[in-house]
Order: sequence, then C-alpha cells, then structure tokens
Amino acid sequence: MKNFLKPLKRYAAIGAVALAAFSLQPLNAQAAAPSPKPSPSVVGGTRAAQGEFPWMVRLSMGCGGALYTQQIVLTAAHCVDGSGANTSITATAGVVDLQSGSAVKVKSTRVLQAPGYNGSGKDWALIKLAKPINLPTLAIATTTAFNSGTFDVAGWGARSEGGGQQRYLYKAKVPFVSDASCNSSYSGGIIPDEEICAGFEQGGVDTCQGDSGGPMFRKANNNQWIQVGIVSWGEGCARAGFPGVYTEVSTFASAIQSAASGL
Ligand code: ARG
Repeated sequence: MKNFLKPLKRYAAIGAVALAAFSLQPLNAQAAAPSPKPSPSVVGGTRAAQGEFPWMVRLSMGCGGALYTQQIVLTAAHCVDGSGANTSITATAGVVDLQSGSAVKVKSTRVLQAPGYNGSGKDWALIKLAKPINLPTLAIATTTAFNSGTFDVAGWGARSEGGGQQRYLYKAKVPFVSDASCNSSYSGGIIPDEEICAGFEQGGVDTCQGDSGGPMFRKANNNQWIQVGIVSWGEGCARAGFPGVYTEVSTFASAIQSAASGL
C-alpha cells in the first residue's frame, strides 16, 4: 500500500530525530502535565516491566525489533535502506529504559531487506549484530495457527499521532481483525497473505510511529511467546475504523529462516 507506507517512512525518519531530541530533555511533559491519568504509549498502552519482553530491541534509526537469534534482529523492511554490509545501526537491548546504564548496545554488521521488497507488503528485514546478546529470543510463528485472538504489542514509539518517541518501553493488547474487515477499512489496500491486521473497531489502542519493526506476539499453546506480526503501517494511529497493519510473519517464516542462516 504505497500511498500509506511512503508518508510513514518519512515519519520513521522524523522518529529518529525525535529519539535524538528526547534524550536531551528532562522528564518533561508527562510529569509536568496535571493530567488525571498516566499518559499512555504505543497509543493506549501501559509501561512494560523490566524483563517482561526480554527480546525487545530498540534500533537507532527509530524503529523496534526483536531478537530472532542472539545475533540477529527481526525488524521491518521499511526501517532499513537495503541489503549489505552496514555498521551504522545500533541495537539497544536488555532494558525498558533506553537511558539505563545497564543497556546492552551492539552495532550492526549486515542488513538483509526482504527480497523483492518494493514498499508494499514483504515488510521484514534482518539485522546481523557485531556480537551475540545473551538474552532470550522470540520464536516466530511458522504456521497460521496463531493468527487470531488477542495480540500483544510493545515499543518505544509515539503515544499519540504526531507525538514524541518514548524513553520507556510501552505495551498494549490488540485484537485480531480479519483480512476482509481490514481490507474494507483500507479500500482493498491490504495484501491478505502478507499482512495481518489488529486493533479495536473504536480505535484508541495501537502501535504508532517509531514502533515499526517491533513484534506483535501472543502466547503459543506451550505458554511461550510467539511472534505473529511486525509493526508495519496504518492510517494515523489508533483511529476508529483503521486497525494497525502488521507483516504476517507466518507467511515469511521459511524465507526469514533461510535468510538468517545465510546472514
Ligand atoms: N510505519 C510506522 C513506523 O515507521 C508504524 C506505523 C504503525 N501504525 C499503526 N497505526 N499501527 O514506526
């Protein structure tokens, strides 16, 4: 869905600038505003606990990701520039607070953008890290068995449309939306085999700019977390009638697996 994804790519770049900016700010707006409720993030979310999603990674271009292996991050294709040697990305892991002294920071060595990616669908990429990070990894769904129910999402992205990037990791739950329903929201702009949608009909809870590349996940039957989606795009954030659109990980599971073994 090019006409949606293109502006969102620009937001991702703005996100990176916002990330650089927020670290210079004190614990600002959130604390200062005499708001009766704590400000949500990931739009409509709450703070994740330290260690709750240990495979969550923040990428320096202003995206999220998940540890697919201890040395490979799975993220979105639209978060990277292409494939090849790349030492420009820093992955921050092991913390909910990006400013924590215990953050693990590792540089990239290579990037693999989904083969055939052209801005529509196939929104996945792998980032090889300079060294392994000793944290749990997130398994990916290899069948469609988990493409239903309620999903968890997490990220350091905006907590409202046009809002700033976050210092702390936020999380939320969003229900599965069928391809048919999602496609009618987006006037046929969904690629049903490559994208999976999630969100509430009334809106209010969603991923947003800067969450891109991060995982959408749920519990598998063995009670282990399993990744079913990658934050990709949406019309604004948390708008009524416009669910979030995620890369359908199960469709690409074998491509991801073979790309990872060759990386
Ligand atoms: N493309 C966005 C990014 O670069 C993510 C947008 C997700 N939007 C949504 N409404 N779920 O961070």
